[in-house]
Amino acid sequence: MKSAVNISHLFMSDSICTGDIVIDATAGNGHDTLFMAESVGKEGVVIAIDKQEGAIQSTKNLLLEHDIQHVNCMVNDHSEMEIVLQPFIQRVSCICFNLGYLPGSSDRSIITNTQSTIKALDACLTLLQYRGAISMIAYRGHEHGLEEALAVEDWMRKLPTNEWHVTRTEPINQSASAPIVYFAEKKR
Ligand SMILES: C[S@@+](CC[C@H](N)C(=O)[O-])C[C@H]1O[C@@H](n2cnc3c(N)ncnc32)[C@H](O)[C@@H]1O
Repeated sequence: MKSAVNISHLFMSDSICTGDIVIDATAGNGHDTLFMAESVGKEGVVIAIDKQEGAIQSTKNLLLEHDIQHVNCMVNDHSEMEIVLQPFIQRVSCICFNLGYLPGSSDRSIITNTQSTIKALDACLTLLQYRGAISMIAYRGHEHGLEEALAVEDWMRKLPTNEWHVTRTEPINQSASAPIVYFAEKKR
């Protein structure tokens, strides 16, 4: 069975090349960061962002276990991406989001929210290069998750057809709150 994370990695592997600059906008425990770091190789640049210090520490630990050194980890809100990552404007090939709370954390009140998620999506439009892509996993099963997923869907649907190709992937024989994977590719 393909999980939402497997599907997101499958989509991203098609968009990421060796040497690329990529961003994990919700680093969490570092699994997506590790995938991106392995995909771009040592010649590439990975920026891993999370607003929780503990998540960034967890990401650093995972990268250390895998002897990965080409990741810049930062504690920040992804809604500030455009300001913080000015040198990377129009140079990024893929930006990944895995919404929700930090798995394993006892504090589930620290969670992505609609307003900052949409602001971060707006920043992606500036940061992505020609043929860049956004991968986003949205969870409808927790409080505010459905509202956030609907806002993401609305944002994705508004991307101009002649400039973007957007897909939504979700299981159709499982719970109606199963995670959705959105993948938006810039055509030009
Ligand atoms: C589902 S987890 C990410 C899982 C992670 N990608 C992994 O591979 O382990 C969501 C993460 O988003 C972070 N987060 C929530 N709101 C954020 C924000 N506004 N800016 C940056 N990170 C945020 C949380 O702290 C949490 O660690």
